[in-house]
Amino acid sequence: MNRELETAINAAKEAGNIAIQTFGELDLAKIHPKDYKDFVTEVDSACEQRIASAITSAFPDDSMLCEEGSTANGTSGRKWIVDPLDGTLNFIHSFPVFSISIALCDSKNDLVTGVVYQPVLDELFTAEKGKGASLNGNPIHVSSRNDPEHFLIATGIPFKEYHYLESYVSMLKDVIHDSAGIRRAGSAAIDLAYTACGRFDAFWEYKLFPWDYSAGVLLVREAGGIVTSFSGNGDVSAHHSIVAGNPVTHPLILEKAKKHFHEHL
Ligand code: IPD
Ligand code: CA
Ligand code: CA
Repeated sequence: MNRELETAINAAKEAGNIAIQTFGELDLAKIHPKDYKDFVTEVDSACEQRIASAITSAFPDDSMLCEEGSTANGTSGRKWIVDPLDGTLNFIHSFPVFSISIALCDSKNDLVTGVVYQPVLDELFTAEKGKGASLNGNPIHVSSRNDPEHFLIATGIPFKEYHYLESYVSMLKDVIHDSAGIRRAGSAAIDLAYTACGRFDAFWEYKLFPWDYSAGVLLVREAGGIVTSFSGNGDVSAHHSIVAGNPVTHPLILEKAKKHFHEHL
């Protein structure tokens, strides 16, 4: 294992331990509004501080983009992308689905390392570019399901950007017809990790941030899946919309995304 992956794993596990210690007992005073329907807890900040200091002390020349504002402007051209707690609303409500997501892009802006850690289940998803993806050290692969009657599809609901709610709802209706069920777990990083290991057959969400999806995108690709934006572009950062799936589900969901979101693309 290279030092980058080792550093990301250790940092994610340390942050996970911080989160677990408070999970289910979060003091309301430790929850602060960040934006409309957007909250940050003191646990998000504590996790981020731990991860940011681990990364900067191991790789002082690298840059860093973290959701809660920690930054580093190194000279190496490489960039770490960190979501210290993905699923904060779940965490606040003691709903046990949240994760820590850490990714590294090389100087060509290619994703090379990805870690998603779900502390409640002690599940560690890891990927390195060209080396595959694993769950707790065991190789994982996207699902091989190809019959819509069996598909379990994950999504994220637009809970504050109302101008594309109509497009979302019409796409949802369409996906309902081509699946056995739909889940909204509340952590995009987990949605992608579960797509990588075949629990979900596909995932779609419009308008995410790089910290939500970067590690998960590498996981899905290294697990044999396909990830694009809603317009079909492999560079999801240009659009921040995500369609991920296996070679059968990805084109199916992408077609629906293009159809229902065409006015937003
Ligand atoms: C959120 C989660 C959620 C997604 C939201 C994200 P946060 O991240 O990933 O599943 O639907 O768009 O903002 O705020 O809990 O880190
Ligand atoms: Ca997030
Ligand atoms: Ca977060």
